[in-house]
Amino acid sequence: MSDTILVTGASGHLGQAIIGHLLDSQGVAPSRIVAGSRSPDKLAALADRGVKLARVDFDDPATLQAAFAGISIVLIVSTDALDGAGTRLRQHKAGIAAARAAGVGRIAYTSLPSPDTSKVSFAPDHLGSEAAIKATGLPYLIFRNNWYQENLFMSLPQALKSGQWYTSAADGITAYVARDDIAAAIAAALANPPAESATYTLSGNDALTNDQVAALASEILGKPIQVVHLTDEQLAGGMKAAGVPEAYIPTFVSFDAAARTGGLATVTDDTEKLSGRNSKSLREFLEGNRAAFAG
Ligand SMILES: NC(=O)c1ccc[n+]([C@@H]2O[C@H](COP(=O)([O-])OP(=O)(O)OC[C@H]3O[C@@H](n4cnc5c(N)ncnc54)[C@H](OP(=O)(O)O)[C@@H]3O)[C@@H](O)[C@H]2O)c1
Repeated sequence: MSDTILVTGASGHLGQAIIGHLLDSQGVAPSRIVAGSRSPDKLAALADRGVKLARVDFDDPATLQAAFAGISIVLIVSTDALDGAGTRLRQHKAGIAAARAAGVGRIAYTSLPSPDTSKVSFAPDHLGSEAAIKATGLPYLIFRNNWYQENLFMSLPQALKSGQWYTSAADGITAYVARDDIAAAIAAALANPPAESATYTLSGNDALTNDQVAALASEILGKPIQVVHLTDEQLAGGMKAAGVPEAYIPTFVSFDAAARTGGLATVTDDTEKLSGRNSKSLREFLEGNRAAFAG
């Protein structure tokens, strides 16, 4: 068995950051890393550093067969197919089946916290993917990633602009974590995998209610935010009235329902234990992105 690590989704934010940490934080030789992507042409900078490139598209089985041959660990970065039609689970299962058929030594996967009970609309995709990995009988590494702090770039600007944050999360808490801290932790686990299979819950160091996030953002960014507490139905109605495409509304509302019911609350020290560094707090994230939020 080789000691080669293949990362799928290598042109995405997380995939790129993981490969960056494999090279720069973990000192893995570039010749041991394969960057798998639907668009390897976007990864010339990695090729220049000696990383191998491979075309990897879960919708194109031939690419998987070719790319996974001789690989020790395949990290399947979950895809962004959120059509609600089962595409993502089908894609992940294709990747898992190909990894097994190619004889890889271990499968790693990016999941979400509490996939068995989470109210996030696509939690069943993750639960099904984890189950498919376990059914291969191969050793695995599962990384259950909490919400990225960077997700706040999608929700906070509107709240800062209007002064109101509509939510049905009530006093539910979310353990936001910087995407780069997740990447550093995953890279460390891939570079030095434990002997056995392992499941990690990658969170930040604390978990906050939306009222607490709003108060912190108001303090740091200097604009008041009033949190308006709604039911799921009221939140969905408000989104519809605001012109949010109807197909996305159940998913967006499910994020708040998940927070309200504790699905995003788990705080662990897995991220720091793996990465070997202090994780970024939400305060540090907001302070470091003042200009972006001011825009
Ligand atoms: N925890 C969170 O807060 C959070 C937030 C957003 C997303 N996520 C999940 O975490 C994943 C990584 O996050 P990110 O920030 O890197 O997202 P991103 O930048 O949007 O990347 C999406 C990824 O999906 C891959 N992908 C899409 N279709 C694919 C296919 N047919 N075959 C293989 N790969 C495919 C892309 O790979 P290529 O284009 O290189 O092929 C890309 O790496 C996302 O895809 C999503 O599942 C988590």
